[in-house]
Amino acid sequence: MRLHGKTALITGAARGIGLAFAQAYLREGARVAVADIAGADDAADRLGPDAFGVTLDVTDQASIDAAVARVADWGGGIDILLNNAAVFDLAPIVEITRESYSRIFEVNVAGTLFPLQAVARRMIAQNEVTPARGGKIINMASQAGRRGEAIVAVYCASKAAVISLTQSAGLNLIKHGINVNGIAPGVVDTPMWDAVDALFAGYENKPLGQKKREVGEGVPYGRMGRPDDLTGMAVFLASREADYIVAQTYNVDGGQWMS
Ligand SMILES: NC(=O)c1ccc[n+]([C@@H]2O[C@H](COP(=O)([O-])OP(=O)(O)OC[C@H]3O[C@@H](n4cnc5c(N)ncnc54)[C@H](O)[C@@H]3O)[C@@H](O)[C@H]2O)c1
Repeated sequence: MRLHGKTALITGAARGIGLAFAQAYLREGARVAVADIAGADDAADRLGPDAFGVTLDVTDQASIDAAVARVADWGGGIDILLNNAAVFDLAPIVEITRESYSRIFEVNVAGTLFPLQAVARRMIAQNEVTPARGGKIINMASQAGRRGEAIVAVYCASKAAVISLTQSAGLNLIKHGINVNGIAPGVVDTPMWDAVDALFAGYENKPLGQKKREVGEGVPYGRMGRPDDLTGMAVFLASREADYIVAQTYNVDGGQWMS
């Protein structure tokens, strides 16, 4: 029960990795706001009485402000923000469209920064009332943010931006007792990867499922990640044990990347 008494807001938590994070935080005693552009209420209903569904579009400032206010009212403030919502697309450089670029940067970068800003403001105000309360903010980066990939340029750039924002926000907010850190997964078997597999199949002339098999076999650990492989780090970074960890992004990727 390392998160007993804490209120967490997780974006993109209706499915995939975000849903596994919600389940793990509930197991550790937190109350969890499951925020998503689709399916938030259904997911929260299935998770039980300590989960709260919030429809949230991380690209819309009014939606962010309303969600943060609702969650803080429900949970008596916010102690943990997990910025997990993201979208993926790929294309060779000469085929990238402005629409795809804008969507990826709006969701993955602005959709990390502005929920972080709204929750940080609230945490700073909470800490003026209760100085030791602190706050934990965790951003989902990716191995894609560690280096470019030939036909994944924009998503890779968006996740590099998340790593950079994590560093700057971490340095800026630690004086308020707010830790900002990140997690960089490798390849994780979720609905996002089914879409990735289908996109690669089109560009690399592969049958559906082949790219996914190949990337799994390429992981030093010997298989793709599963959402539950990431929950240990997400719980740790949200706990008091991580108080002295500032502005870092940790690889949790079965040995894919070393930094
Ligand atoms: N799956 C992987 O291999 C992998 C690898 C590295 C990093 N990641 C990162 O992990 C995180 C979770 O990935 P996943 O695989 O579970 O993805 P997913 O596509 O399965 O789930 C993403 C969730 O985000 C929500 N979402 C999308 N746009 C939104 C918006 N505008 N506002 C609110 N919610 C929105 C979706 O509805 C969905 O529930 C993402 O940040 C992703 O980039 C995933």
